[in-house]
Amino acid sequence: MRHHRDWSDSSSGERQRGGELHKARYKRGWSGNSSWNTSRAHSTSSRYHLGHVDIIAVKKDCSVNHQIIEVRELLQTFLQFKYLLYSRRQIMDPDSFKDYAKEMAEYITNYLENIRDRKVLPTVEPGYMKPLLPSEAPQTPEQWQDIMADIERVIMPGVTHWHSPKFHAYFPTAQSYPSILADMLSGAIACIGFTWIASPACTELEVIVLDWLGKMLNLPKEFLACSGGKGGGVIQGTASEATLVALLGAKAKKIQQVKEQHPDWTENEIISKLVAYCSCQAHSSVERAGLLGGVKFRQLEVDEKYKLRGDTFAEAIRKDREQGFIPFYAVATLGTTVNCAFDRLDEMGIVANREDIWLHVDAAYAGSSFICPEFRYLMKGIELADSFNFNPHKWMLVNFDCSAMWLKDPTYVINAFNVDPLYLKHDMQGSAPDYRHWQIPLGRRFRSLKLWFVLRLYGVENLQKFIRSHVAQAHEFEALVLSDPRFEIVGEVLMGLVCFRLKGSNELNETLLKRINGAGNIHLVPSKIKDTYFLRLAICSRFSESKDIQYSWKEIKLRANEILDEQSLSK
Ligand SMILES: Cc1ncc(COP(=O)(O)O)c(C=O)c1O
Repeated sequence: MRHHRDWSDSSSGERQRGGELHKARYKRGWSGNSSWNTSRAHSTSSRYHLGHVDIIAVKKDCSVNHQIIEVRELLQTFLQFKYLLYSRRQIMDPDSFKDYAKEMAEYITNYLENIRDRKVLPTVEPGYMKPLLPSEAPQTPEQWQDIMADIERVIMPGVTHWHSPKFHAYFPTAQSYPSILADMLSGAIACIGFTWIASPACTELEVIVLDWLGKMLNLPKEFLACSGGKGGGVIQGTASEATLVALLGAKAKKIQQVKEQHPDWTENEIISKLVAYCSCQAHSSVERAGLLGGVKFRQLEVDEKYKLRGDTFAEAIRKDREQGFIPFYAVATLGTTVNCAFDRLDEMGIVANREDIWLHVDAAYAGSSFICPEFRYLMKGIELADSFNFNPHKWMLVNFDCSAMWLKDPTYVINAFNVDPLYLKHDMQGSAPDYRHWQIPLGRRFRSLKLWFVLRLYGVENLQKFIRSHVAQAHEFEALVLSDPRFEIVGEVLMGLVCFRLKGSNELNETLLKRINGAGNIHLVPSKIKDTYFLRLAICSRFSESKDIQYSWKEIKLRANEILDEQSLSK
């Protein structure tokens, strides 16, 4: 690894150019403030070097004064030329941008197409980067090539390669060439589409592609803008934001309802009685939404397949009502992070509708699979939900961030967030969504371009093939695990995630994981349910194939053999 650059040696391009000018000045004997040294002005000819430019001052057969004036003019022209050249070099001009964009595309494709050859986990220690970079930003522009060189020198040693087929941690994060290109365009348009008028295309494309996507998932028409009802979709940054936005909408709705029944109750009194529900396996962002929304959240027990069932939900509501609480919101998880279990949305939906509770569906990872009809049985009951969210940025080849959310009736969300300063008002209000009211921040990028490019350049069929290939690879890995009697599977394999463990203690499995990640050839994270520790293998990369599954299984078996051999030797 190369080390800290010595900034005193003026290694930046501008410092070099500065050095050349200084040398030229010295040669010409110019003190730098027009006090031309006449004794040196008699020199026969001089040559200034500045990049590709040579300026030759030729000795003229005339008086010294005339010569001084002429040389001054020449110098002025030279300085003007130098300034022009200098400023062109500082700011990336269009031709340079085109060249550099090609160079970057070359770098990106090389990186991605050869990602398998890189070590998936970096070996750096915390603080590795500090000695590699100067402590202050450069005063003058640097060269593009220096930055490009620093990608391998400074950045890549500290990158965890999420798109390597050897990366099996968490859930996938999506990535594809069409999406990267759309991100480029979004970066170029660089609008902030908080209202329709702030950039009509930004809002209108979002409405349309979310209808496309909703139809691909076969969402009930009440969620779609094209149905002509109140419903519609919006792109949030993350599933966490979607859960919070839905909670705040539900909270606003319930407060309004209760106020109508009990006009004497204060808002604080009502809020203190509000209670929300989710499974004990729900993502931490659900609990966090409760904290941010200032309401109680009950985490309910699951059945033997790790699903939250309708009767458990109904019983919790009954108990809370008895104690004077006001149930107002519930989250059903389709594809839990822990082990990709699916709550019984159909059963929860019946209870939620009967009890007038807003039901939000968090399908952050698994939601992408619903573009394939064969997986839709897992979203049975979707017509009973009030809001639904999944992350195309997890498993549908759209780069982060793109979290698709649909609401049957966004009115309460819109009202909950509606602050209307004069500078954000416009004449077209009400004719199209002003997405600022559907989300927490004001600003929003042109994210729908990513979806639009991916949907058009892949087509639904190829996206379905992609999902199916990951599920097939998960089953291939499951079969390998089951073929070895020392291992067991935890839970059901339904999507691209396999949970497994060595039969034996939690400590044994903790050692196995440490050994696997320590070797750094593949990367996995653990999980735990009811004191049972296990390993999670997620199929993450769009480059992943059967040979990668075989490689990962070989690596896991090798580490398991090492541990079990050591154990039997120590006995
Ligand atoms: C089920 C579930 N919900 C929510 C989240 C949070 O997603 P985000 O990072 O988009 O907020 C995750 C992340 O993996 C998840 O698996």
